[in-house]
Formats: sequence, structure tokens, C-alpha cells
Amino acid sequence: MSVLDAIAPPVEVPPIAGAGREARVALLGHGLIGSAVSRLLRTIANRGPRPLRVTGALVRNTRVRTDDAPHPFFASPAALFEPAPDVVIELLGGLEPARTLVLDALGRGIPVVTANKRLVAAHGDELVRAAARSGAAFRYEASVIAGVPFLGTFAARPLAAAVNRVVAIANGTSNYLLTRIAEGLSFAAALDEAQRLGFAETDPSRDIDGSDAADKLAVLARTFWGWSVRPNDISTTGVSRLGAIELSLAREIAGSIKPVAVAQQIGGNGSLFVGPAFVAAGDPLASIDGVLNAIRLERTGELPLLFSGPGAGPDVTARTVVDDVFEILAGGASIRPQPAHRPTLRQHRPSGWFISLGGSLPETAEIADLFGAYGLWAKRWSEPRPSTGGRTVALLTHSCSPAAVDAAIARLKSVAAIDAMLLPVLEAGRE
Ligand SMILES: NC(=O)c1ccc[n+]([C@@H]2O[C@H](COP(=O)([O-])OP(=O)(O)OC[C@H]3O[C@@H](n4cnc5c(N)ncnc54)[C@H](OP(=O)(O)O)[C@@H]3O)[C@@H](O)[C@H]2O)c1
Repeated sequence: MSVLDAIAPPVEVPPIAGAGREARVALLGHGLIGSAVSRLLRTIANRGPRPLRVTGALVRNTRVRTDDAPHPFFASPAALFEPAPDVVIELLGGLEPARTLVLDALGRGIPVVTANKRLVAAHGDELVRAAARSGAAFRYEASVIAGVPFLGTFAARPLAAAVNRVVAIANGTSNYLLTRIAEGLSFAAALDEAQRLGFAETDPSRDIDGSDAADKLAVLARTFWGWSVRPNDISTTGVSRLGAIELSLAREIAGSIKPVAVAQQIGGNGSLFVGPAFVAAGDPLASIDGVLNAIRLERTGELPLLFSGPGAGPDVTARTVVDDVFEILAGGASIRPQPAHRPTLRQHRPSGWFISLGGSLPETAEIADLFGAYGLWAKRWSEPRPSTGGRTVALLTHSCSPAAVDAAIARLKSVAAIDAMLLPVLEAGRE
């Protein structure tokens, strides 16, 4: 199957109701992003294709508001939707009541903009179907790398979007943590700092365990190939196991460890992976540090496209959300308007492995022989260094099946008291 087979035909979107008059915008949620959107809409109310006015915001607690917004707050969606808005912006987060309210709006023919990757990843098919039925546009540009608008562009440009592989650093919190741990902080100190600076939420578990990046990868796979994948279908590993030792060993063998999300199309099949991976020092993704995000789009035999920029933050996200509203008011279509199909998923097969070993290690030559018996060949070793309980060493291997690597490490563990950490090596895009 050619990558061009995934191209969807263009869709016609009817103009939204009340063209010419002021457009009424209803906000679902007025937290960090909702209040930033509300502020932005006040400053640029007359700069879009039509004047805009926020008619109200749905919140949990209508009584204690520190927001200085001039519009009313509602605890009841029915009150917010009366009179019917021209556009709904969903910024509640989570699955419910977001799903029900977005379906309700789309069902009534009201266009919806959301920044909620969890919602789009889990219920994208259902929401896109609802939008297609009523003809209302459904846009979610800010759900992946909020400060780099690319989803809508690629969904509307099928030739540019005909790529085989998408590699992203899409979670700023975990990238920030790994960057700071590599600079010498402990995991706990790096997390504490990230929370103090507003780079990590009070409950950062979905960032740290990879769930947030898996949601974004599901959205990317839907946008680029029309795949319907659940985040649970994606092999996902978090970053909490990593410490200063692994990060400095990676540097010693000319690379760094980055939290990546990889989707690959192979014939009619696909593979999806989210987790930390070894990235060679020469790969441009190795220099995406801190809260910076990036996405690389690769096409076999061609130079890749690389976009990078801020992945989150109230002002950045609000701009992207409001641009989606402007697109809708100017007659723009839904992002990926066609229903998706389920791909056959295969295990991700990396181009090699980064293995760090610690404990009562045998001599390097002995480890190399033992691994060689399983077809696992090293192309680079770090200098063994003393550590608590023995020695630590890292190696970079050639490609080998995950089953063979697991068997080789299990055999080593049966002959020596060691710990091992195994990470895939990210194949560099052509430069
Ligand atoms: N933070 C970022 O940088 C960023 C970047 C890109 C995308 N996003 C996405 O943007 C969305 C919003 O994020 P956020 O950081 O603004 O969240 P937030 O600060 O937690 O705000 C959530 C808002 O929704 C309201 N809300 C939540 N559940 C509700 C319910 N059941 N009924 C009524 N109101 C409810 C809350 O009401 P109260 O005010 O009464 O609590 C609050 O106003 C999320 O989907 C997030 O993933 C965020």
C-alpha cells in the first residue's frame, strides 16, 4: 500500500450560521487555558473574519472566581448553550463531561474547537463521525505540540502529509526532567523544579508514565494515516526509571536519552512506540532540550521535515485555539474529517539497543561473548566505571529482535547479580 492511499478527499463545509453578525463563543472550562483564551479573545475580538464575543464559560465552581472576565460563569451546560453559540471551545480536559458536551454541540451543528488530546485520542472516531453527520467543523490543532500549528496544515495538504514515519518529542514535562537529570539533578529535585516553574502539573503522572505522549501519538496517527488507535494499543514506557547514571552513560557513548513517540507505517501495517530512547548526538532531536517539543516527518529516501517549538503554556495554547476558531469562521474544514480505520499493529523494531548494566559484572569480553551467542553485537561500549555494588557499563548494539535481547539479558542475569536497563535506539532521519 502506498502512503498516498491514505489521502482523504477534500470535504465541503457549509458556512456557519449567522454569517456577518458577531460570532458567539461558548467556553467549556475557564482554567489555565480557558482563561487565557478568554483574555486573548477580548484583545483581538475584532481582528478575525468576524467579531467575536464570549457569551459565558462552564466551570465547576461558579461562586469563587478570581478571573476578571466580563462574561458570566455557568455550572449548567444547558444555561451556557442558551442562546445557541456559534462556536464551542472545549477546555475542560479529561473524558467526561467533555465527550458528552462536544457530541451535543456537534450534534446540533455547532462547530467545536478543543485542545484536549485525551478526548481526541480516546473518542476521535465518534467525534469526527458526529461532525461529519451534522456538517459542523471539529478542530483540535492545540492538542499536539500546542505552539507549533501543523496538524490542520498537513490534514489539508495530502501530498505533504504522505509520510512513512513520524517521530516526536511531544511531552515537555518528561523532556524537561531528563534534561535536568542529565545536568545533575535527581529525579525528585527535577520534578520539584518543574512544578515550581509551572512546567509540570500538580499531578504529573500522565506526563511521567507516557500516557500523555501516547494520547498525542494516537492523534498524530489518525491525522497522518487515518488510523484509529487507542492509546492503550501503544507500547508505552515512562521516564521515572531513568537516573543520572543512564543519562551520563548515554553521553559517554555519544548520545542522549529523549522521551520520544514514534509511529511508523510499513506496507499496510504500523508500529507505535512511546518511551525513552537513545538518540545519537548528531541527530537534531538530541538537541531538543527542556520544555521544547519537536516533530520530525520522514518519507523513505527523502530529507525529513523538522518542526520544533513550545508544546504547552497558556498564551501559546490560547493562540492556537483561537486560530482554529478563526479558521472555522473563515469556512475551514474539520481536521481529518474522514472516519479512521484500524491498522494492523506490529511490535516496534528499533535500529539497535542501548543497554546499561550495573552490579557484579563479568569482564566486558565475557559479556560480549555471552550476548554474541544470542546474535546481539555491540558497536560501542562505555568505559566500565565503579559504582555501588560493583561496576556500571553501557553498550550500543546493532539491530536485534526484542526477544533475543530479552533472552541475552536473562542469561546474563542467571550467571551474575546484575541490573539491566534496555532502551531502543532511535533511527536517525536522513539528513
Ligand atoms: N496546560 C497547557 O499548557 C495545555 C496545553 C495544550 C493543551 N492543554 C489542554 O487544555 C485543556 C484544559 O487544560 P487546563 O490546563 O486549562 O485545565 P484546568 O486549568 O484544570 O481547567 C479546567 C477547567 O474546566 C473546568 N471543569 C473541569 N471539569 C469540569 C466539570 N465536570 N464541569 C464543569 N467545569 C469543569 C474547571 O472548572 P473550575 O475552574 O471551577 O475548576 C476549569 O475551569 C486540557 O484538555 C489540556 O490537556 C493544556
